[in-house]
This record gives sequence, C-alpha cells and structure tokens, in this order.
Amino acid sequence: MRYLIETYGCQMNVAESNAIEALLKGRGLERTEDAGLADVVILNTCSVRKTAENRIWGRLGFYSAQKRQHPLLLIVTGCMADRMKDELKKEAPYVDYVVGNNQKAELPSLVLGEDILDKDSYSFFETSYKEGSFSCYVPIMNGCDNFCSYCIVPYVRGREVSRPPEDIVREVCFLDSKGVREITLLGQNVNSYKAELDGKRIGFPDLLELLIPCLDSIRFVRFESPHPKDFDDHLIRVIADNPRICSHIHLPMQSGNTRILKKMNRRNTREEFMALVDKMRREIPGLTFSTDVMVGFPTETEEEYEDTLSMMEYMACTEAFMYYFNPREGTRAASMEGAIPEKEKVRRLERLIDEQLLRQKKEKASRLPFEAEVMITGLSKEDSSRYLGRSEHNEYFSIGTTLSHNPGDIIRVKADGLSGNTFRGAEHV
Ligand code: SF4
Ligand code: F3S
Repeated sequence: MRYLIETYGCQMNVAESNAIEALLKGRGLERTEDAGLADVVILNTCSVRKTAENRIWGRLGFYSAQKRQHPLLLIVTGCMADRMKDELKKEAPYVDYVVGNNQKAELPSLVLGEDILDKDSYSFFETSYKEGSFSCYVPIMNGCDNFCSYCIVPYVRGREVSRPPEDIVREVCFLDSKGVREITLLGQNVNSYKAELDGKRIGFPDLLELLIPCLDSIRFVRFESPHPKDFDDHLIRVIADNPRICSHIHLPMQSGNTRILKKMNRRNTREEFMALVDKMRREIPGLTFSTDVMVGFPTETEEEYEDTLSMMEYMACTEAFMYYFNPREGTRAASMEGAIPEKEKVRRLERLIDEQLLRQKKEKASRLPFEAEVMITGLSKEDSSRYLGRSEHNEYFSIGTTLSHNPGDIIRVKADGLSGNTFRGAEHV
C-alpha cells in the first residue's frame, strides 16, 4: 500500500505528520507523492484562517475526482477535522474518515482497517523522528487555555494537556542516540508545561533541566511558542546556565500597546513585556529575539500602532512574523466593533515590515565580519558548490569550503558578507 500525506499549518501538525508517517512505514506502507498511485491520502489540516480552510476544500475536490478513477482511502485530520466535523461529513461525503486531533495517534491503526475509539483528550505520539533527520520536533504539550481573543487554537486543539516527562526524556535520549543535532520542543503554549514526577509538580524549566543529561549529539535545543506571562526567572536562569539551550528566543509580542493587548486578552502590559525583554537581555548572554506581531486589531488607533512600531525597535528582533488582523469566525475578536479598513491594515503592515527589514539588515551588516558556529542544513540552491547553514541564533549562512560535509555537521564559519537575509562566508579551519 502507498500513502500520501499533505500537511498544512503549524510545526505541531508537521511533527504529527512525521509521527504518522513513521508508524505507517513501520507497518510496511510506502510513501508516494503521486496522487494517482496513492491508496491512502491523509490531509492534515489547519483552521487558523479561512484561506487555509478554503485551500483544503479545493484539495478535497481534487481527491474526490481521484476517487472516481481508482480506489482511495481519504482521511481528513487536524484542526479542520475538529472545527468542521459535521460540515465535512455533509459537504464531502466521499471522505472516508474525519479524525480529530485527539484521535490522531490512532490514525495508522485506522488506515490498516482496525477499529479506533473516540477519545476526549489528546494522546501524544512516541516520536516524530524521521529516519536520517538531523533536526526534530518534540511535542511536549497540546492545546491552550489562554483564549487570546483572535485565536482559534483553544477551540480546535482544546485545553492544555502536558506529556509525561518520562516519555519526553525517553524520546530526547532516543533522538540523541540517532545523531540528531537540533530539537525544538513544541506546544501551543510551551512554557505553561505542567506535570508530576515522583509526586512532585514540575514546570517547563524543570523539564529542560531533566533533558540536559540526554544531550550529547544534540547541540541546539529550541522551544516554541512561549507566552510572555509564563516566562519566569527560573526559566531565564536555566537558559542562561545551559549553553545547549539556544540563546535565541521566539517571544510573541502581538502588540506594543497595553489597551490593545488587553483587548487581545494577552494578559501582559507593554511595561511588563519591556521589563521581561530587559531582564532576559541582562541574564542571557548574546540573546537574540524573534517575534509574532499583528497590526490593525479592531479599534487600534494610529498612536497605538506607533506603540507597536516602537516596541519592535526596542526588541530589535533578528526575525519577525508580521501580520494584519484577520477576523476568525468563532473567536471573540471576530465580532468586535471598530474594524480597521483593509487598505489601512495593509498600510500599517507595510510600514511595519519595511522598518523591520531595514533594521534587520543594518544590524546584520554592523556585525560583519564575525565568526559563528553553524549547522549545515544542505547545499545552496543557487550555487551547489556552497553549503547552507543555520546558527544558534537561527540566522542563515551561505558557506564556501573545500571540505565535504553532511547535513547536521557543525562547523566554524567566518562571515564577511550579506546577501539579502543570508550571511556569506567561508569555513574557518
Ligand atoms: Fe492562541 Fe497562542 Fe493565545 Fe493560545 S496563547 S490562544 S495558541 S495565540
Ligand atoms: Fe493551524 Fe491548528 Fe496549528 S489551527 S496553526 S494546525 S494548532
């Protein structure tokens, strides 16, 4: 039997697709990219925006035509399977199974014709490891209790569930034994991780400490996405004390204005966010940030938007994911009054992006020349005589060298140029 998996949405979906794939392979199925050859198609979907869902409806049309040409088991899983179970069953009766996130771990059994049970809480996969990978995701918690007013995640992934620490330690030690060099601990609200170990309550920083003894081959430990309100002193100390935990933190800001943050239900003020940034910078040597930021939230004034611009300057991120507000049906913000006109949202976003890119470029150029440890990720697409790589700070490098390397190798690079967002340099031997 051959399977084809299409994955949409966040890293959690990517990790879960990898885990499903490993289980299917283990049961003797083969992967194909050709829909005409597939016996099983799994669509792992995302509901974060209407456009993401519309794309899936388009894919369903395509696969219903495929089903008329050859036998095909068609399965829809992921967040859309949770949010639109009834519509999917009604509008797309040719879909064989609609499998919510809670049942995902049992999907491989379902493919093989076994019965699966309906579950009301999420189960984690044993591992998302893909043979030969040097970089892996490790889900440690699922769901979110925060209900930011614009976000659909708590409605589709449900309440927070943390994975047992023993299972996480086992998976990380296994990944290390496989020669993996980089792991990213995942959760929608990763630093609100809570569990029990030997009768004691443990949180996210305790979990990180438990993982340290497993790390030999693994050099870069990352995590995504933390919530500023759960970023405590203990966590800052653990990052500062352990060089394998990357001193590059993705810290979602969303807005730089307290009134808008309150409307977003972000539970932190501008001042608290700034104080956190200051404290992290003070305690963690060489720290860099990336962030998520959104403009044009309902009722956002020009002055409040300027607060976001100034906070972006203050944070001086090396990378930023920038959006304008898009109402998501089913969330509180979707029915808020004071919508900002589309044209104005675009204007605010364009200025935000322009300023960020300019700042990024200036800051990067000002550091040249410098030396850094870089993990090889593959060959450069433009010039196959050069390697591509990524540093602890998640910055990209194009590297010239006379030596031969494999993805995952960590080398020293002397950077002396910049092309777009990518540093250029040579291996320093
Ligand atoms: Fe969504 Fe993140 Fe807010 Fe949770 S913390 S509701 S996942 S934006
Ligand atoms: Fe999308 Fe669900 Fe992730 S809505 S972003 S796949 S949590």
